[in-house]
Amino acid sequence: MLKGKTAVITGASRGIGKEIALKFAQNGANVAIIYSGSKDEAEKTAQLASGYGVKAIAYCANCADFNRVKEVTKEIINDFSGVDILVNNAGITKDGLLLTMSEADFDAVVGVNLKGVFNFTKHLSRYIIKSAGGRIINISSVSGTNGNAGQANYSASKAGVIGFSKTVAKELAGRGVTVNVIAPGFIETDMTAKLPPSALEGAVSAIPLKRLGKTSDVADLALFLASGAASYITGECIRVDGGMCI
Ligand SMILES: NC(=O)c1ccc[n+]([C@@H]2O[C@H](COP(=O)([O-])OP(=O)(O)OC[C@H]3O[C@@H](n4cnc5c(N)ncnc54)[C@H](OP(=O)(O)O)[C@@H]3O)[C@@H](O)[C@H]2O)c1
Repeated sequence: MLKGKTAVITGASRGIGKEIALKFAQNGANVAIIYSGSKDEAEKTAQLASGYGVKAIAYCANCADFNRVKEVTKEIINDFSGVDILVNNAGITKDGLLLTMSEADFDAVVGVNLKGVFNFTKHLSRYIIKSAGGRIINISSVSGTNGNAGQANYSASKAGVIGFSKTVAKELAGRGVTVNVIAPGFIETDMTAKLPPSALEGAVSAIPLKRLGKTSDVADLALFLASGAASYITGECIRVDGGMCI
């Protein structure tokens, strides 16, 4: 479905981003894998992706760092010639109730989850508009669409991603680029493994499909949105949450 395309996936060393990178590679896309701390895991993802016969390179870049993102964009363009697809997936949590949340925890989460999306979109858009059928896919969360007690910083950042995406969808539509958002519910990754078992049990009981999501549930939608089959869909936010927000 993506033969000959080049995709940049942030936060692809682990979890949902890794699954998206491998799914894209399996479908013929060359992949640039962005990570910040997990070098070995990122290189493993690149190695697994190369196994599908595509070009795959891992790059270290803190997505919250505007100048580093500018630099890494140049490195990617040198290595791959162009970019067709950007998946802004990197994200962190620093949960706590508003009354006790520190300024540092608010800034850190917004810096990675929202400014990181701005940084990569800003620096790569000029290349993506040259693609025939450019795609930007941003990973938000049901915490951004519906709010979640204990996640004021995270919810704000993820709601910001939705507003940002709708605006960029309007700005880039004339250049043939679609911009869409995926809002996952509870997906089994390192991020949810940090939650107490009682919270996860409570979540499952509130999910109509009665299970946590898998990384492949999100990657399958990302593949569809990146493909030609989704060329008339832009500015949408689609939940992948087992019906949790019905
Ligand atoms: N899991 C869920 O239930 C769930 C639900 C809703 C939304 N989401 C969203 O889905 C996305 C992926 O989540 P996940 O569960 O797969 O998380 P995860 O397993 O914790 O992985 C997070 C990824 O983001 C990267 N990352 C973190 N900070 C970064 C930074 N400053 N610069 C560049 N990369 C950075 C990490 O790379 P390093 O290890 O190299 O630092 C890692 O590859 C996030 O945006 C998250 O908010 C997840």
